[in-house]
Amino acid sequence: LDNGLARTPPMGWLNWERYRCNTDCKNDPANCISADLFLEMAKLMKYEGYADVGYEYVNIDDCWMERERGADGKLVPNPELFPEGIAALADAIHSMGLKIGIYEDYGTKTCGGYPGTKDHIEDDVNLFASWGIDSLKLDGCYCNTSEFSTGYPAVTKALNATGRPILYSCSWPAYLHDKDKVPYGDIAENCNLWRNYADIQDSWDSVQNIINWFGDNHGDLASYAGPGNWNDPDMLIIGDYGLSFEQSQTQMAMWAMMAAPLYMSNDLRTLRQWQKDILMNQEVIAVDQDPLGKQGLRVFQDPKKHYEYWTRELADGTYAVVMYRRDTSGLPRSYTATFAQLKIDAKSAYVRDLFRHMDLGVYTDQITATLPPSGSCKMFKVTPIKEEF
Ligand code: GLA
Repeated sequence: LDNGLARTPPMGWLNWERYRCNTDCKNDPANCISADLFLEMAKLMKYEGYADVGYEYVNIDDCWMERERGADGKLVPNPELFPEGIAALADAIHSMGLKIGIYEDYGTKTCGGYPGTKDHIEDDVNLFASWGIDSLKLDGCYCNTSEFSTGYPAVTKALNATGRPILYSCSWPAYLHDKDKVPYGDIAENCNLWRNYADIQDSWDSVQNIINWFGDNHGDLASYAGPGNWNDPDMLIIGDYGLSFEQSQTQMAMWAMMAAPLYMSNDLRTLRQWQKDILMNQEVIAVDQDPLGKQGLRVFQDPKKHYEYWTRELADGTYAVVMYRRDTSGLPRSYTATFAQLKIDAKSAYVRDLFRHMDLGVYTDQITATLPPSGSCKMFKVTPIKEEF
């Protein structure tokens, strides 16, 4: 969507994966999805360095509202969760230099069963704009998918008409199961980002499954990515319960290769230092945020699918490369990626390790690296050396 927003993939925090529909502030005040939770996350984003490296949007997901619209037809924030309303929360978040996102659904109900926006599009969008909302995630539960091609664009129009820049995240393709029938051209024209595939869960299985899906489908998807338009493989779960150190690095690396939105869904109050280091790795974030906006591709997979290589072209003529090992067989092993496999047209290149923050020197024809099993990776920046004659 050409609305001037998301020229690079948006970064921030989104409550869904970690906090779900936890509205029980009586019994679980520290983890219910209240204004306090969003404010606390905003503060940590600002004061613990996340904002400095680019994390910006604090996004509210489903279950923020009352079960019914008000007598005037307007959506009503749940007063137990947001006693001062959403506008007050938006002000507080803005005063920290951050942005706020909200969730709705194109159908009659949200996935959690709260009022959907169907038949209320303009009123709802205007209400969000009046609250100072900066981003809208629009889900696709409780409606006929045949209505998407008119429904999602109708919301685009209403958003544009508010005059307020509001980032637009669509779930349009995620509900269309026949991939040949996904109208990616229309989706890219109308949305800044779009969820393509299944909801992420707190497990390595889930992350791995998403990476595989994007790898298998890349030919269709990557061509639609670019400034203003991003495929969305869903939230980062680094800092939650499901990922080891290596798997956390792999999620971060692969999301950067896919030019994915970087929305953390975790408890910023309890992260360990190594988790923060991965989430705030500026060299990896720079790959994600590369201004060319060209989505990386899986360029090589071994026949047994035990390991694979991904390459992403960057604006400065260099490449980001990930060597990713999937099998679960015991010991660390050595892998070699030839430049030909990586689709890098060079004889030799400088290679830098983006997790160790180390220049490894000049490599000729290939890169060799040791990878432990079960979802580890190495991420490199590869700078081809021009041959002089
Ligand atoms: C769907 C979406 C999730 C989340 C939930 C909320 O499953 O894909 O990301 O928004 O709905 O109910």
